[in-house]
Amino acid sequence: MALLPILSYPDPRLHTVAKPVAQVDARITTQIANMLETMYHANGVGLAATQVDFHERLVVMDVSEERDQPLVLINPELTWVSEETQINEEGCLSVPGIYDGVERHSAVTVQALDEHGNSRSIEAEGLLAICIQHEMDHLMGKVFVEYLSPLKRGRIKTKLLKQQKQAEQA
Ligand code: NI
Repeated sequence: MALLPILSYPDPRLHTVAKPVAQVDARITTQIANMLETMYHANGVGLAATQVDFHERLVVMDVSEERDQPLVLINPELTWVSEETQINEEGCLSVPGIYDGVERHSAVTVQALDEHGNSRSIEAEGLLAICIQHEMDHLMGKVFVEYLSPLKRGRIKTKLLKQQKQAEQA
Protein backbone atom coordinates (compact mmCIF):
# COMPACT_ATOMS: atom_id res chain seq x y z
CA MET A 1 0.00 0.00 0.00
CA ALA A 2 1.08 3.57 -0.50
CA LEU A 3 0.11 7.06 0.51
CA LEU A 4 -1.05 9.07 -2.49
CA PRO A 5 -0.50 12.82 -2.93
CA ILE A 6 -3.78 14.76 -2.57
CA LEU A 7 -4.42 17.55 -5.08
CA SER A 8 -5.09 20.96 -3.50
CA TYR A 9 -7.57 23.55 -4.74
CA PRO A 10 -7.30 25.40 -7.12
CA ASP A 11 -5.42 22.65 -8.99
CA PRO A 12 -7.20 22.43 -12.38
CA ARG A 13 -7.05 18.61 -12.29
CA LEU A 14 -9.74 18.74 -9.57
CA HIS A 15 -12.16 19.79 -12.31
CA THR A 16 -11.68 16.62 -14.37
CA VAL A 17 -14.87 14.60 -14.94
CA ALA A 18 -14.19 10.96 -14.00
CA LYS A 19 -14.95 8.04 -16.33
CA PRO A 20 -16.80 4.93 -15.12
CA VAL A 21 -14.67 2.08 -13.77
CA ALA A 22 -14.75 -0.54 -16.53
CA GLN A 23 -13.83 -3.52 -14.38
CA VAL A 24 -13.21 -4.11 -10.67
CA ASP A 25 -9.84 -5.81 -11.12
CA ALA A 26 -6.47 -5.87 -9.32
CA ARG A 27 -5.65 -2.37 -10.55
CA ILE A 28 -8.82 -1.00 -8.89
CA THR A 29 -8.32 -3.11 -5.74
CA THR A 30 -4.84 -1.61 -5.31
CA GLN A 31 -6.20 1.88 -5.92
CA ILE A 32 -8.90 1.33 -3.25
CA ALA A 33 -6.32 0.14 -0.69
CA ASN A 34 -4.10 3.14 -1.38
CA MET A 35 -7.00 5.58 -1.21
CA LEU A 36 -8.23 4.15 2.11
CA GLU A 37 -4.72 4.39 3.56
CA THR A 38 -4.42 7.97 2.30
CA MET A 39 -7.85 8.95 3.68
CA TYR A 40 -7.20 7.46 7.15
CA HIS A 41 -3.72 9.00 7.27
CA ALA A 42 -5.17 12.45 6.47
CA ASN A 43 -8.03 11.97 8.99
CA GLY A 44 -10.65 12.46 6.28
CA VAL A 45 -14.16 11.00 6.25
CA GLY A 46 -14.11 10.64 2.47
CA LEU A 47 -11.79 10.70 -0.51
CA ALA A 48 -12.71 10.70 -4.19
CA ALA A 49 -10.36 9.27 -6.83
CA THR A 50 -10.30 12.70 -8.52
CA GLN A 51 -8.49 14.11 -5.47
CA VAL A 52 -5.57 11.74 -6.01
CA ASP A 53 -5.46 12.41 -9.76
CA PHE A 54 -7.17 9.11 -10.71
CA HIS A 55 -10.08 9.97 -12.96
CA GLU A 56 -12.44 7.03 -12.61
CA ARG A 57 -15.70 6.88 -10.64
CA LEU A 58 -14.44 5.60 -7.31
CA VAL A 59 -14.82 6.98 -3.77
CA VAL A 60 -13.87 5.72 -0.32
CA MET A 61 -15.48 6.86 2.93
CA ASP A 62 -15.63 6.15 6.63
CA VAL A 63 -18.04 8.19 8.74
CA SER A 64 -17.76 5.93 11.82
CA GLU A 65 -16.31 7.31 15.05
CA GLU A 66 -14.02 4.33 15.48
CA ARG A 67 -12.70 4.76 11.92
CA ASP A 68 -13.18 1.05 11.28
CA GLN A 69 -16.06 0.96 8.77
CA PRO A 70 -14.61 1.66 5.33
CA LEU A 71 -17.17 2.11 2.58
CA VAL A 72 -16.22 1.83 -1.10
CA LEU A 73 -18.47 3.12 -3.87
CA ILE A 74 -17.63 2.31 -7.49
CA ASN A 75 -19.64 3.95 -10.29
CA PRO A 76 -22.06 5.51 -7.77
CA GLU A 77 -25.37 6.91 -9.00
CA LEU A 78 -28.04 8.63 -6.92
CA THR A 79 -31.35 6.84 -7.45
CA TRP A 80 -33.34 8.99 -5.01
CA VAL A 81 -32.86 12.30 -3.19
CA SER A 82 -35.05 13.82 -0.47
CA GLU A 83 -36.87 17.05 -1.16
CA GLU A 84 -35.76 18.21 2.25
CA THR A 85 -32.37 19.87 2.32
CA GLN A 86 -30.09 21.03 5.10
CA ILE A 87 -27.05 23.25 5.41
CA ASN A 88 -24.00 21.76 7.06
CA GLU A 89 -20.45 22.91 7.54
CA GLU A 90 -18.19 21.03 5.13
CA GLY A 91 -14.47 20.69 4.73
CA CYS A 92 -12.33 18.87 2.17
CA LEU A 93 -8.86 17.32 2.13
CA SER A 94 -8.26 19.26 -1.10
CA VAL A 95 -9.19 22.57 0.56
CA PRO A 96 -7.17 22.36 3.81
CA GLY A 97 -8.27 24.53 6.72
CA ILE A 98 -11.42 25.86 5.03
CA TYR A 99 -14.91 25.06 6.34
CA ASP A 100 -18.20 26.54 5.17
CA GLY A 101 -21.90 25.81 4.93
CA VAL A 102 -23.25 23.90 1.93
CA GLU A 103 -26.88 22.99 1.23
CA ARG A 104 -27.42 19.28 0.49
CA HIS A 105 -30.28 16.81 0.28
CA SER A 106 -30.94 15.50 3.81
CA ALA A 107 -31.19 11.91 2.60
CA VAL A 108 -30.18 10.04 -0.57
CA THR A 109 -30.21 6.53 -2.00
CA VAL A 110 -27.08 5.56 -3.90
CA GLN A 111 -26.57 2.58 -6.19
CA ALA A 112 -22.96 1.48 -6.59
CA LEU A 113 -20.60 -1.47 -6.90
CA ASP A 114 -18.67 -2.46 -3.80
CA GLU A 115 -14.97 -3.42 -3.69
CA HIS A 116 -15.84 -6.93 -4.91
CA GLY A 117 -17.79 -5.64 -7.89
CA ASN A 118 -21.19 -6.47 -6.38
CA SER A 119 -24.04 -4.03 -6.96
CA ARG A 120 -25.78 -2.62 -3.92
CA SER A 121 -28.12 0.15 -2.91
CA ILE A 122 -27.49 2.26 0.21
CA GLU A 123 -30.01 4.52 1.92
CA ALA A 124 -28.15 7.31 3.67
CA GLU A 125 -28.93 10.28 5.87
CA GLY A 126 -26.96 12.57 8.15
CA LEU A 127 -23.18 12.73 7.72
CA LEU A 128 -23.12 9.76 5.31
CA ALA A 129 -25.64 11.43 2.97
CA ILE A 130 -23.60 14.64 2.99
CA CYS A 131 -20.37 12.77 2.41
CA ILE A 132 -21.81 10.79 -0.53
CA GLN A 133 -22.99 14.01 -2.23
CA HIS A 134 -19.68 15.78 -1.54
CA GLU A 135 -17.58 12.90 -2.91
CA MET A 136 -19.80 12.37 -5.95
CA ASP A 137 -19.39 16.06 -6.76
CA HIS A 138 -15.61 15.48 -6.89
CA LEU A 139 -16.15 12.82 -9.56
CA MET A 140 -17.97 15.46 -11.63
CA GLY A 141 -15.04 17.85 -11.18
CA LYS A 142 -16.80 19.95 -8.56
CA VAL A 143 -15.22 21.14 -5.30
CA PHE A 144 -17.50 22.30 -2.42
CA VAL A 145 -16.15 25.87 -2.53
CA GLU A 146 -17.94 26.23 -5.87
CA TYR A 147 -21.21 26.44 -3.89
CA LEU A 148 -19.91 29.54 -2.09
CA SER A 149 -20.11 33.12 -3.34
CA PRO A 150 -17.53 34.22 -5.93
CA LEU A 151 -16.14 36.62 -3.34
CA LYS A 152 -15.58 33.89 -0.74
CA ARG A 153 -14.21 31.53 -3.37
CA GLY A 154 -11.76 34.19 -4.55
CA ARG A 155 -10.51 34.71 -1.00
CA ILE A 156 -10.06 30.96 -0.48
CA LYS A 157 -8.17 30.65 -3.77
CA THR A 158 -5.81 33.48 -2.84
CA LYS A 159 -5.23 32.06 0.66
CA LEU A 160 -4.50 28.53 -0.56
CA LEU A 161 -2.21 29.69 -3.40
CA LYS A 162 -0.24 31.74 -0.88
CA GLN A 163 0.06 28.72 1.46
CA GLN A 164 1.15 26.50 -1.43
CA LYS A 165 3.79 29.01 -2.48
CA GLN A 166 5.10 29.23 1.09
CA ALA A 167 5.19 25.43 1.36
CA GLU A 168 7.21 25.22 -1.87
CA GLN A 169 9.74 27.75 -0.59
CA ALA A 170 10.08 26.13 2.84
NI1 NI B 1 -13.68 16.83 -0.74
